[in-house]
Amino acid sequence: MNEAQEKPTEFDLYAGEYDDLIRDPIREKFAASNRFFAERKLQVIHRFYGNRNTDTRALNWLDVGCGQGDLLKMGKSRFASVAGCDPSAGMLRSCSGLEVRLQTSAELLPFDDGSFDFITAVCVYHHVPVEQRETLCREAFRLLRRGGVFCLIEHNPLNPVTRLIVSRTPVDANAQLLTAGSSRRLMTRSGGRILKTRYFLLFPEQIYKRLARVEDWMEAVPLAGQYAVFAERAN
Ligand SMILES: C[S@@+](CC[C@H](N)C(=O)[O-])C[C@H]1O[C@@H](n2cnc3c(N)ncnc32)[C@H](O)[C@@H]1O
Repeated sequence: MNEAQEKPTEFDLYAGEYDDLIRDPIREKFAASNRFFAERKLQVIHRFYGNRNTDTRALNWLDVGCGQGDLLKMGKSRFASVAGCDPSAGMLRSCSGLEVRLQTSAELLPFDDGSFDFITAVCVYHHVPVEQRETLCREAFRLLRRGGVFCLIEHNPLNPVTRLIVSRTPVDANAQLLTAGSSRRLMTRSGGRILKTRYFLLFPEQIYKRLARVEDWMEAVPLAGQYAVFAERAN
């Protein structure tokens, strides 16, 4: 067993009580359950592919830093196959029924070149030390087939409510948030060509139900709680 497996990662320490540790009164007012946050991410992904006339049921999807696998579990029926990886064995313990691999290096991903059509990393990079981000991002592009897409989803530090929640969430004690601009630069430096940036989670669930179109219309305005940057492999 190597050192990474012997030594618990930061998220191994949180895994047992993860759901409690991410609870926040503002977050709970924003949406009735965590499900809404995952549903919105899947909607953003499906809208991206819908606009490209791509049927996601033909795509192999990898979620890097998949944690407890919530997004994969909710999204898997609309993809050809799904897989995940994470450095935290504790987080992966909740991924039963999913094909997941333990990532024994913070910067290297445990899959072969060109294995996937679509890769996500959701709220992962703000936990990755700045000096390791480019290597991890290059790894995502290495795993993509030609024409494959990497989607990086992050908290938007330009939203003051997001910053407040992050500042008091125990699992974010070491978080260093990235603006969408820094994510785009990171992806470009790492071998990606930017296709789209989209901000989402502007309106709380109850308002979103009535004003979804307004939020969609404001997708380029850097105010919402999170953003997604989509990039394809440049070569
Ligand atoms: C906030 S959790 C998000 C989990 C999941 N993506 C989600 O949205 O529910 C951050 C995850 O990133 C993982 N992580 C931290 N450093 C990582 C790295 N270098 N490579 C991949 N994942 C990492 C953690 O183990 C943890 O499971």
